[in-house]
This record gives sequence, structure tokens and C-alpha cells, in this order.
Amino acid sequence: MTDRRHDLIVIGAGPGGYVAAIRAAQLGLDVACVEREPALGGTCLRIGCIPSKALLEASERFAEAKHGLDAFGIRLTGVDLDLPRMLKRKEDTVRSLTAGIAGLFKKNRITRYTGSGSLLASGRVRVATAESATELSAEHVIIATGSKVAPLRGVELDGDRVGTSTEALSYAEVPRHLVVIGAGFIGLELGSVWQRLGARVTVLEYLPRILPGVDAEIAAEAQKILVRQGLEIRTGVRVLGAKREGDGAVVSVEGGEPIACDRVLLSVGRVPNTDGLGLEAVGIALDERGRIPVSDGWVTRVPGIHAIGDVIAGPMLAHKASEEGVACVERIVKGYGHVNYGTIPAVCYTHPEIASVGKTEDELIEARVLYKKGSFPFMANGRAKALGSVDGRVKILAHAETDRVLGVHIIGPRAGELIAEATAAMEFGASAEDLARTCHAHPTLAEVTKEAALAVDGRALHI
Ligand code: NAI
Repeated sequence: MTDRRHDLIVIGAGPGGYVAAIRAAQLGLDVACVEREPALGGTCLRIGCIPSKALLEASERFAEAKHGLDAFGIRLTGVDLDLPRMLKRKEDTVRSLTAGIAGLFKKNRITRYTGSGSLLASGRVRVATAESATELSAEHVIIATGSKVAPLRGVELDGDRVGTSTEALSYAEVPRHLVVIGAGFIGLELGSVWQRLGARVTVLEYLPRILPGVDAEIAAEAQKILVRQGLEIRTGVRVLGAKREGDGAVVSVEGGEPIACDRVLLSVGRVPNTDGLGLEAVGIALDERGRIPVSDGWVTRVPGIHAIGDVIAGPMLAHKASEEGVACVERIVKGYGHVNYGTIPAVCYTHPEIASVGKTEDELIEARVLYKKGSFPFMANGRAKALGSVDGRVKILAHAETDRVLGVHIIGPRAGELIAEATAAMEFGASAEDLARTCHAHPTLAEVTKEAALAVDGRALHI
């Protein structure tokens, strides 16, 4: 076992870890990054955000070519699915991006160790592979090991017929009937992919509504639209179990008939990934939800050991992890660094997309904050009409007295892009009036945000 010294060791090369490593290198640190997978980028790049977006895009184009272009005066016949090619494009996209991170590591002279990292003591990390082990030391360690699929009692994952998002990104054929357990981001995104490609998709959700955490009014609108597209969504359903049966699977639910299908996707959330990290050895105890507790500066109870991203509290989102990675490193090197947890956007890439930032209406009611609300539909927007995508709305919640924007919730075309304006506005402490008085190019989808801001004061122009 050799001992190598660095200034900082980052464990995990997902969007939290790899970004932290790059920022630390920019700031002059000698950085090591430990990752057990041969490809960098973590769940997000390899088996999460990026491949799912590649398939969402491809499946949307397929569905549009098959059913959606008549209204544009385009008649297509003989539209066929070439699934192997679609999957290959997804894999190529992933490969080029993970290779891009390897290039960034080289450029920034980050030393990469392939193997499983575990903590031996403060400042000491062991990197183990099947063949050998190396010991590293550094003044600072950042744990950025992400999350893994949350299991569900009774659901027997077999890596094939009963699987997770990892399998659902690579089904070799379109399932005839896919049952999705959990109507969250993963369930609705991947359910949409396979439904567009021709599968019957049944989504089972335990709660009485879909997308918990998303503004209730927006989630209700999403449910209507997705059902209209052909997703079968059953809320208030308790899944008792799922297992492979022959060439297919069967899902049992409380108070109902078992559902026979050919594939099951389990997507009831994710849990922090702290397996084999050796946290006990250094005296770090997990909280009640398996997360690593951190205090100001993302420091664990052991000085010199930090944690960021999905292994700590907060939304399990790639960009939240990246922000924490940068801020954590800046704290270490410069003594300051900050993440504004009130302005972390979230995007669900269904069609139309669903995006939000800030407080939901229910959260404001619960916190007894008095608010005003402005809402404007895409139906009344010229660009949305031209695009042929008029479902949805922008909804702005502003403080009743100060007019400060407290939350923005969008369901509609390119909502994931539109939310950036709202996020920037909130970051700068904008009022609804500020947004309303900002000149927006015409014709653009962003005009819906301006109109919603005007609507906060009851003066939307085009409705
Ligand atoms: P999620 O937390 O978004 O949704 C899980 C859903 O499963 C919830 O609706 C929940 O009520 C439901 N559920 C829980 N137990 C259940 C049960 N026993 N039976 C039926 N339904 C049950 O989790 P998801 O979709 O697995 O995603 C995991 C994480 O990854 C989330 O934090 C999500 O935000 C993130 N993610 C983000 C994406 C994005 O930013 N576009 C895309 C995919 C995932």
C-alpha cells in the first residue's frame, strides 16, 4: 500500500464531486478524485439526467412524427421506431459527456483514482479495487457519493423485469405494458418515454396526488395533461409487492386485483449512498433518513471531512450538488462560499415540462405568509400557438405587502428554460413589478412570465 498526499480528496465524481474537484483545482489545490466507476459523471451523467433526457427528446420526436405533425400541414407515412439506434444515440451522448469530464480533469490536473473510497481517519482515505489498495492523505476530504434507488418492501428487483430507472433507460424492446411505481420525477419522465414509444403505461402512486413537492395546482394540471396523452395514472394506491413471473411481472396492490405486466419500474425516491464509506470508523453518525449531517460550510462533525449533494439534506438534484461543491471548496480555500437554498429550481422533463423555484402555495399557506398570485396561460401566447404547444401556465406568487417574488411555478413548453429568468429574478430579490416592467422579446414564451407578473397586480394585457 502506497501513501499519496494531496490537498483535497473528493470521493465521488458526480455533479457534486467533479464540479468541486474542478473548482478546487482552479483555486490552486492539488486535488484527487476517487470514483469507483470507470466513467466520470455519476448517476446524473451515466444513468440519470442525461440518458433520460436523450430518450425524452428522441421519444418526443417520434411521437410527434407519428401523431403530431398533421396540424402543421406535414403528412408523414411509414414512421418506424429504430429502438437500437435510439438507445445508441443515448449511449453516445453519455459517452461524449463523460469523456468531456475526463478531459476537464486532465486540463485541471486532477488526479483520478478508480476504486472505492473509504475513510480511515480524518484526512486519510483508502482506495480499493478488486486487485489492490492505495492510501491517500489530505487536509480536506469531500464526500460526494450521491444516492441510490430507494427500495420498497415486497418489490423484488431482478435487474430485468422488475427494475429501476437504470433498466428503464435500456429496455431492449418497447414493453407492451409497463407498470411504474411512484409518480415522481423519474416515474413520469420514464413513463412518458415508453408511453410515447408505444407501451401501455400504468403509474401507481401512493399519495392522492402526483409529484409531491410540486405546487398542487400545477401538479393537478400536469396529471390532466399526462392522462390525456395516454398515461394511466392511479393515485391513492398502496403497492404490496412486485415480482417476476415467467416472462413478465405481477404487481400486487391493496384492495385490488394483481396487475400483470411485462415490466415494472420502481421509482419511489432515492436514498443517500453511504455504503462502505467507513463513516462509523471516523465517528460520523447518519441522521434518521440516512443522510450525513453537516453544519455551516458543509463540514461533518469531524473537522476536515465535508459532505455535499444527495448524501446530505435537501433536494436530490444535480445542480444543488454542484452549487454545494463550489461553495464548499470556496469556503475551504477562501473562507467564504454560499448556496441560496431558497432559489434552487427543479425541472421535470415531461411534455410539457414542469419547472419551479421558491415556495409553493401550500408552503406559503402553512407558513401563514400573505401572498398575491398571478397566473397566465400559454394558450394566450403567440409563440406557444406557433409552436403548437399551448398547454399550461406560469404562476407567480408574490408577497402581499412587499410584492417580492416568493415562488414561480410553470407547466408549459420549455418550462425548464423559462425557470432560469424567474430564478435569477428571485436571486436578485425582484418584485413581481420588476418582472412585469422588464421588456421581454416578442414573440417569445417568456412573455407568459411577464404577463403572469402583470397578473399579480391584476393587469395582464392579453387576457
Ligand atoms: P420522487 O421523490 O420524485 O417521487 C417518488 C414518488 O413515489 C412520490 O410521488 C411518492 O409519493 C411515491 N411513492 C413513495 N412510496 C410509494 C409507494 N409505496 N407506492 C407508490 N408510490 C410511492 O422520486 P423519484 O422519481 O424516484 O426521483 C428520485 C430523485 O431524483 C428525486 O429527488 C428527484 O427529484 C430526482 N430526479 C430529478 C430529476 C430532474 O431533475 N428532472 C429527474 C429524475 C429524478
